[in-house]
Amino acid sequence: MKKFFIAFLIFTISISSAILAQSGNSKPKILVTYFSVPETDAVDASTGASRMLKNGKVIGTTAYAAEMIGQATGADLFEIKTLNQYPTQSHKALIDYAKNEAETKTYPKIVNTISNFNDYDIVFVGYPNWWYDMPMVIYTLFNDYDFSGKTIIPFCTHGGSGFSQSVETIKRMEKNAKVVSMPALSRNRVINAEESIKKWLLSNGIIEE
Ligand SMILES: Cc1cc2nc3c(=O)[nH]c(=O)nc-3n(C[C@H](O)[C@H](O)[C@H](O)COP(=O)(O)O)c2cc1C
Repeated sequence: MKKFFIAFLIFTISISSAILAQSGNSKPKILVTYFSVPETDAVDASTGASRMLKNGKVIGTTAYAAEMIGQATGADLFEIKTLNQYPTQSHKALIDYAKNEAETKTYPKIVNTISNFNDYDIVFVGYPNWWYDMPMVIYTLFNDYDFSGKTIIPFCTHGGSGFSQSVETIKRMEKNAKVVSMPALSRNRVINAEESIKKWLLSNGIIEE
């Protein structure tokens, strides 16, 4: 029994430190990159639209989660901006726009650039679930940057579908990276997710007590 307990302890510690070990040192450099589209039409949550208020500013649900992760880890934040403007005045317009983008396999151009991308060991990649997938611009991100040797931590906000198959897609696209996903975040619970996010970061060895 004692032997079993010690073996279990060693197993647990090695899993927790697996992400850190990947980066090869105890202080990995962390980036939180995310895409988020706050909807500004005055609708209630039942319509499916998404927005949060932080310090008097309307931000998207994924942006809100990204800021929590950034604050807990001390990571640099990078918000993905696209050349095209997504329609935010009406939920339906955004839904239709995103559907067309996915159906026509349009990869939106990212207009801003991540500085010193090569320096990062761990890259959180956050996005909303759009049409049971990640938004097309996240495909652009993976095509634009070389994630080889890094740990990618996808995080996703959603209205019920979780990640859909997007984590598997990222693993397929980034065979030379380690992909460890966080639990998906329901958009209705993001506002209260700080503790559970911190617990996950702790148990995966990304932050310390
Ligand atoms: C274009 C579009 C498509 C969506 N498709 C899905 C979906 O397939 N499954 C789901 O659970 N939620 C879906 N949602 C809901 C979003 O994933 C959810 O509201 C998310 O938190 C929005 O994040 P944001 O505020 O950071 O943009 C969709 C929302 C939009 C705008």
